[in-house]
Amino acid sequence: MDTQYQTTLETLERLRAESISAGGDRQKDIQHGKGKLTARERLHLLLDTDSFEEFDVLKVGRGGSLGKEKNYLGDGVITGHGSIDGREVFVFSQDFTVIGGSLGEAHAQKICKVMDLAVKVRAPIIGLNDSGGARIQEGVDALAAYGEIFRRNVSASGVVPQISCIMGPCAGGAVYSPSITDFVFMVEDSSYMFVTGPSVVKTVTHQDITSEELGGARVHARQSGVAHFTVPNDVLALREVRRLISYLPSNNQHRAPLLDLSDPHNRTDPALDYLVPENPTQTYDMKVLIFSILDGAEFMEVHAGFARNILCGFGRLGGQTVGLVANQPAVLAGVLDSDASFKAGRFVRFCDAFNIPLITLVDVPGFMPGPDQEHGGIIRHGAKLLYAFTEATVPRISVIVRKAYGGAYLVMNSKHIHCDVNYAWPTAEIAVLGSKGAAEVIHRKEIAAAENPEAMLNQKMEDYRKTFANPFLAAERGYIDDVIFPRDTRPHLIRTLQMLDSKRAEGPKRKHGNIPL
Ligand code: HXC
Repeated sequence: MDTQYQTTLETLERLRAESISAGGDRQKDIQHGKGKLTARERLHLLLDTDSFEEFDVLKVGRGGSLGKEKNYLGDGVITGHGSIDGREVFVFSQDFTVIGGSLGEAHAQKICKVMDLAVKVRAPIIGLNDSGGARIQEGVDALAAYGEIFRRNVSASGVVPQISCIMGPCAGGAVYSPSITDFVFMVEDSSYMFVTGPSVVKTVTHQDITSEELGGARVHARQSGVAHFTVPNDVLALREVRRLISYLPSNNQHRAPLLDLSDPHNRTDPALDYLVPENPTQTYDMKVLIFSILDGAEFMEVHAGFARNILCGFGRLGGQTVGLVANQPAVLAGVLDSDASFKAGRFVRFCDAFNIPLITLVDVPGFMPGPDQEHGGIIRHGAKLLYAFTEATVPRISVIVRKAYGGAYLVMNSKHIHCDVNYAWPTAEIAVLGSKGAAEVIHRKEIAAAENPEAMLNQKMEDYRKTFANPFLAAERGYIDDVIFPRDTRPHLIRTLQMLDSKRAEGPKRKHGNIPL
């Protein structure tokens, strides 16, 4: 063999090995000591065995804006493509062992390259974030680099699914890339996200707060709604990302893959006939219905800890992925508040963008009353959900299980905002108000003048319930397509989904609507 060629081969081998171990063993041990896996170990768990093809192994930065900093092969991020259950995905995995996974010009160029390819070939993008943020030594070049990523996040939005997995620090303006993506996973105790960290908080507000308290996984899963999923460790996080991908199509032109779980389409569940308690103020768990109707009782809940009065998530009916939005009577009586409207609104828009049919299970007493909600903008937040459902052109099916009152009835995928098929259970109560509120308004004088006002109120409530608290008036008008036996809900949904399979619906031509963000 030609000696020069032999030398080139040896150089290549050496450089590749150098790139792969760029951070060094000490940094690797520190990473493991924090309970975190390395960037490569993570990719190994995320992708199908031996499917990873790496790009830019040999790419280096320009050594900071003064050109004096040490360069590392690969520049602190591993990028490329691989498969999940045989389907192509593009990935980047930030390597905290190399300059704290900080993002400089070359690092960002590598990420942008895979993002561009993902959009070209229409495959999902998964980012594993573990980074100290903008590389300080690169100054404005690092900021510019973030801008390039943000721009691509926005143009890929609604074209291919984008998933972020936060597995370490994610601070400052860097948080805005994951927050534009469709789903954010956070690992408990080892990841955090905040715009300004504890030291700045201390300087500005004199408040002592830890990173975990300020922006840990639990806070973002329960309070801010930034995290859609939280997981106890890296291994489970990556397994859950794979699971999420299994429900999603690769892009906005494709359908989600079918998965037959061998659950009979015509399976009924007689127990559902007794799910709704006789007493209208008594709660029950809507998840019982969800698990009963879905294939194999498999439900991947999104935002499980946030705005728990509404349930959103993915499941399958007859093998086909569906997006479920269901009021949860077991939490705040299933009322719609600002957080619930935001949560469900964004979920509906994701499903609509990616051809995932929407199923709604309705038991909603109305919008949450009170100055906190009004002053916090429930009008504009509630409008998000109304807008999202109304605009959605994917197949839409609704089942009114119990309460569907007032504006919340309309918002929750009613016939009037173009739901395709609306079912009601015999227990459905479709009315302008609940019985007490209604009786107090329309019989106020009579009740006040009565010898026993309380007995009179109860009588009027009972009369009202008999007249309005049922699905039959709505069915007479055709606002409900059928009143079904609860036990038959699954077969009805599957049959209707099959019917809607070839649905085509287009709105008027426009640049884009102006959703009340
Ligand atoms: C350059 C960085 C870095 C950064 C960490 N390192 N962050 N180098 N730029 N942003 C380096 C450290 O110097 C260190 O190098 C190595 O990475 C590991 O960091 P440690 O501090 O030892 O790790 P740890 O104790 O775990 O602390 C992690 C950390 C801390 C909390 C992330 O490093 C930190 O506070 N970094 C700065 C964070 C920051 O302010 N980033 C800018 C955010 S603003 P050695 O050589 O010692 O091993 C931003 C704007 C984005 O990102 C703009 C978008 C518009």
